[in-house]
Amino acid sequence: MIEPIAYQKKLEGKSNAHLISFNDGKDYVVKYFQPGFEKTLPNEWVSYCLARYLGLPIPFARIIDIPQSYSSQIPELAAINSIPYQFALTYIPDCLDGHQVLDIPKIINSDELASIIVFDYWLYNSDRTRKNILLQKAQGNILRLWAIDHAEVFGTYNWQMDEIENLPVGLIKSATHQIIADFIQDEKEFFEQVDIIQKIPIFLIEEIVSMIPDEWGVTKEEKKAMVNALLMRRKKVLPDLIQKFINTIYRPLHDSKKPKTV
Ligand SMILES: Nc1ncnc2c1ncn2[C@@H]1O[C@H](COP(=O)(O)OP(=O)(O)OP(=O)(O)O)[C@@H](O)[C@H]1O
Ligand SMILES: [Mg+2]
Repeated sequence: MIEPIAYQKKLEGKSNAHLISFNDGKDYVVKYFQPGFEKTLPNEWVSYCLARYLGLPIPFARIIDIPQSYSSQIPELAAINSIPYQFALTYIPDCLDGHQVLDIPKIINSDELASIIVFDYWLYNSDRTRKNILLQKAQGNILRLWAIDHAEVFGTYNWQMDEIENLPVGLIKSATHQIIADFIQDEKEFFEQVDIIQKIPIFLIEEIVSMIPDEWGVTKEEKKAMVNALLMRRKKVLPDLIQKFINTIYRPLHDSKKPKTV
């Protein structure tokens, strides 16, 4: 297990993420378990594994265990009642977020963007704000887009059974989805993603959910509800919802760019 060697800073946002250097030579964004935000870490973990399998542009991540003996020496960490296991995401340096880049010229990984939108609809990610995409300089003024922050999939960072069992089935209000959709070249890419999601083996989904550390307090029933939501939504909700997204958001955006015929 990697060990922390230098605390850098607290990052902005409600998860109280911390930037810490580790003995593998890398910097990680670390999220601790927080009362009131009980589902943040389980949501991040399940999202990470599914998104990695699907090939979304996300930073590498892992579950780590920072010893209390280390946290207690760092003023910013000392007050945390440190339950074993944190979620750690590789830090992407020199990025801007979607608020900071008003006019995105070109995205180098535009072929990976449909996967973000389809993923957000599958898991009902209610928090794809402009702060939750990172834009990194790739070549000249061409940018690479990264998706971060999956604390609020399944609707929220502290969902209960009745909420995960009744996730909304309508369009998500997200200016970021509009920004992203503008760079997606062919609407076929959306349904290619839906198809891949529908073919993920059920065993894999169950295994990912079963690997949530016990210390994070997700009950057996809640784990079952996570799996059920994923299976039900990919079959019964996702195809219609993506078609609705294409009709309501994607096509109007792209039709307005086509030269008008007289
Ligand atoms: N892998 C990363 N590389 C670089 N910066 C990052 C990374 N992950 C997070 N950040 C920065 O830290 C901030 C907080 O992280 P994140 O969005 O995951 O947590 P949050 O506190 O839940 O955010 P919010 O309050 O917006 O929901 C991000 O807005 C971003 O600026
Ligand atoms: Mg965020």
